[in-house]
Amino acid sequence: MPIATDARKLDNVTVVVLGASGDLAKRKIYPALFSLYQEGLKPKTWTIIGYARSELSDEDLKKRVTPFMPKPDGRDRSSSNSVPPSPNSTGPKKKEEPLTLEQKLEKFFEDCHYVQGSYDEQQDYERLNKEIEKYEEGKKSNRLFYLSLPPNVFLDAANNLGEFCKTKSGGWNRIVIEKPFGRDLASFQELSEGLNKSFNSHEIYRIDHFVGKEVVQNLNVLRFANVIFDPLWHRSNIKCVQIIFKEQLGVEGRGGYFDHYGMIRDVVQNHLMQILCLVCMEPPVSLSPEDINAEKIKLLKAISKIDKEDFVIGQYRAKNISGKEYPGYLDDETVDNNSITETFAACVLKIKNRRWDGVPILMKAGKALDEKVLEVRIQFKDVPGNLYTEHKVSPNELVIRIQPDEAIYFKIMNKIPGYTDRLTESLLDFTYKDQKKSINIPEAYARLMCDVLIGNENNFISEEELSLSWKIFDPVLEQMEKLHMTPEPYAFGSRGPVEADYLAARHGVKWS
Ligand code: NDP
Ligand code: BG6
Repeated sequence: MPIATDARKLDNVTVVVLGASGDLAKRKIYPALFSLYQEGLKPKTWTIIGYARSELSDEDLKKRVTPFMPKPDGRDRSSSNSVPPSPNSTGPKKKEEPLTLEQKLEKFFEDCHYVQGSYDEQQDYERLNKEIEKYEEGKKSNRLFYLSLPPNVFLDAANNLGEFCKTKSGGWNRIVIEKPFGRDLASFQELSEGLNKSFNSHEIYRIDHFVGKEVVQNLNVLRFANVIFDPLWHRSNIKCVQIIFKEQLGVEGRGGYFDHYGMIRDVVQNHLMQILCLVCMEPPVSLSPEDINAEKIKLLKAISKIDKEDFVIGQYRAKNISGKEYPGYLDDETVDNNSITETFAACVLKIKNRRWDGVPILMKAGKALDEKVLEVRIQFKDVPGNLYTEHKVSPNELVIRIQPDEAIYFKIMNKIPGYTDRLTESLLDFTYKDQKKSINIPEAYARLMCDVLIGNENNFISEEELSLSWKIFDPVLEQMEKLHMTPEPYAFGSRGPVEADYLAARHGVKWS
């Protein structure tokens, strides 16, 4: 499998960020590109062109994105095993004086330019193409188009790029598409058909940044490079699987987008389903994108039909916490006053295959909750024939914490040391930050940007996966919409609606 750092072997890459004036561009895309520069992982030569309708100079764009750039962490990379030596290196070099952050930014921005243009006018794309060619100087070159745009302009932009901006120099063309990948199966298919007219399947990278998170990247290794988990990973041992995503923030002015989608479409149908696939799929034949994709597809096909009874939806309400008033969802100016869009969703899925039949798969996602966390919890069954009847014996649990404070820990029962026979729950604990001195945890967007540059399709979502995922959620979403299903209210900063607990209880389990 290719390693991400091979991007350093590339020459003449142009990255075009469409929607460069926007939120994602400044918060994630430019910082990811700067990370590659800082880590010494960028291609040998590259040009970054921001493109949008706003009238901006190169300097304006620089000012806009600079506050979001990652600061150097002062780590000495020379002893780190997370960034292998450069393939361009010719042996040990004299130690150079490290650049300051300001100097690094100056150097990085030397390769950044801005082009103003619309998303639907042919002549603007022809002009963009000329601008790209100017920096390529007639050499064989590669082009990466990043669509950091609202969905209503995706297709216009993709089709114009396909027609007027692809390189014909013999290098590659790649386009990165952000979610939302449609709002339902029909709009997803329309988007796919439109994209397929201008880019072939190996040129399209559908990004799901949860897949780029370090611990998600570790799921296959944990499962398939260790012998101990394989026999445990089965309905005979596992009571339930929980995938939990909680945020403490509300929509914070992003209601315009969110109100049209809701938590199920925004997070569950895509991000959480990707995690579910990696946790529950069968071992792939190899680590090739095709083989991994084949297993995800098989798993998605094995998921039983879901119904509105398998869901609890909620919407947060204002709450005064320690004298501070936190607004409710409907108080947000960007949200319709009568909105019944869910900001919380909990559901139970069933997988009908030999490994998982009968094991409830619980998923929960919500905004304005009591904590920020993204984790997978595998709850094991009670010990059969328990000998310690006089003690509380908690079932084992494997916790895979993706954020914050990346960790993998196993809850086991242990004897309390000393002159006692009492038991206690202890942790077999691998917490990443204990090792952070030598481990470099990249930002998801930076890692995925590297993957696009080297053409590693493994961490991107195939058309078939998304289509199957929509087939699972479409009928229930339609059902909820038809019935105007009202979300259960919950207080800002709470655990979410209590109905989620009843849902779990109906399946004989408890949220961790
Ligand atoms: P923005 O709303 O900030 O839009 C990006 C740019 O697109 C704007 O700066 C604007 O540039 C242009 N634009 C905005 N609205 C319109 C419109 N109605 N018609 C034409 N052009 C428009 O979006 P984000 O940066 O937040 O998101 C970009 C994409 O990434 C979206 O698909 C979003 O769903 C996805 N995404 C965003 C995340 C985030 O955290 N922001 C997280 C995950 C995905 P100009 O007017 O200068 O042309
Ligand atoms: C985005 C969702 O895809 O992921 C947001 O649209 C959510 O609603 C965000 O807040 C969470 O991502 P992260 O990486 O910040 O946890």
